[in-house]
Amino acid sequence: MTLTINTDRLLRELHHLASLTDCPPTEDTSLPAPTQAVTRIVFTPRDLEARAWLTSLATAAGFSTRVDAVGNTFLRFAGSDPTLPAVGTGSHTDAIPHAGMYDGTVGVLGGLEAMRALKESGFVPRRSIETLMFTSEEPTRFGIGCIGSRLLGGVIDPAIADALPDRLPETDPQAPEGLTLQQVRTAAGFTGPLAGVKLSSNYYAAWVELHIEQGPLLEREGIPLGIVTHIAAPASYRFTVTGFGGHAGALLMPDRRDALCAAAEIILSVERHTLAANAAAKASGHSGVDSVATIGTVGVHPGAVNSVPSRVTLALDIRDTDVARRDHTMALLRADIADIQSRRHVTVAEELINADIPAASDPHILATLQAVCSAEAIPHKTMVSRAYHDSNFMARIAPIAMIFIPCRSGVSHRPDEYATPASIALGTRVLALALAELSLS
Ligand code: GLV
Ligand code: MN
Ligand code: MN
Repeated sequence: MTLTINTDRLLRELHHLASLTDCPPTEDTSLPAPTQAVTRIVFTPRDLEARAWLTSLATAAGFSTRVDAVGNTFLRFAGSDPTLPAVGTGSHTDAIPHAGMYDGTVGVLGGLEAMRALKESGFVPRRSIETLMFTSEEPTRFGIGCIGSRLLGGVIDPAIADALPDRLPETDPQAPEGLTLQQVRTAAGFTGPLAGVKLSSNYYAAWVELHIEQGPLLEREGIPLGIVTHIAAPASYRFTVTGFGGHAGALLMPDRRDALCAAAEIILSVERHTLAANAAAKASGHSGVDSVATIGTVGVHPGAVNSVPSRVTLALDIRDTDVARRDHTMALLRADIADIQSRRHVTVAEELINADIPAASDPHILATLQAVCSAEAIPHKTMVSRAYHDSNFMARIAPIAMIFIPCRSGVSHRPDEYATPASIALGTRVLALALAELSLS
């Protein structure tokens, strides 16, 4: 088989998808190109536009398409024995506010290009090959990531998913308040019971996701490709700190129960315990970088310069390759929170959003990827994904692995996220060859 990845076509499509954005070019002139920030929140008109365009590309290439009740979109290159479990690839096209143009999109358009390149080379798969575009990998709209893949993997109760509140009104004053995922998806044209979304565990014989690394290691080490052996376990929590507000001039300092000051202590406590977890891991011979935690949003009520904050909401994202270590960090944080509550006379309510387990790649798929790299003389390394991915949840119903390509300076979730055309083409080539091999086995 002579396989040619059409890099120009793929790049053109990546740029077209980036143009489907709800964000003006970034005004930060210190950033290198691309300066076009991408915001594409699930089920907004932009997202629907991107979905329709993606489906039209697949149809033009001669692939069949199917969309499930939550909007997960399947593009299928039929195999000679379509009754066999398929081989899957794919990722997401939704983008957090002010994101870049490669996160997720490389895996979707790269998957489509891989199927097209295989078809154009005359290759006939035995198992069907599918490229999947997952709904809402990003947690922006419904507060939890990977909704589409959680449902496919049976990781979230369909009724709980349908009841997730729409958080768009928090950032978009035009958006109506009080809607649920069920109402939003229905309005977007995705109907039917979510219970039907889950895939059986023999739907996919193998699953491989292509993604930018979103970290600096491949670039730093000059290695063009990463093969992911494990995906770190993500968890997220929401904390609501309630104190006592009032007039910023009249409420005397000794009488204050400032919710934001208490929240500030919580934020620093998160950082302190995460750094300590890494230091302890390093002291016992581990890498010492596997614990990460972030307070990424702070909501201050009432949010006026001359009003003492009475209520603050914090969103915590905490991840680790070791779930026990993540739990230990949380236990230390909770002890600090108990102390902050009693010293500052505030209350802190904790709400669990998700606490997921890590995923491990399948040895046969890893061996297939390694064999492809060896046959193509591509230097590569095995690595851990510290970002989460839909593959985390596909791992519940299928053997998985992932391919990483370098991205400039490890930057992601920023407009200046960048991967070279050569890297994108290389990752797509390895993906295509691996899908071909897996489709015959
Ligand atoms: C995915 O976008 C992540 O936050 O890891
Ligand atoms: Mn992302
Ligand atoms: Mn992603």
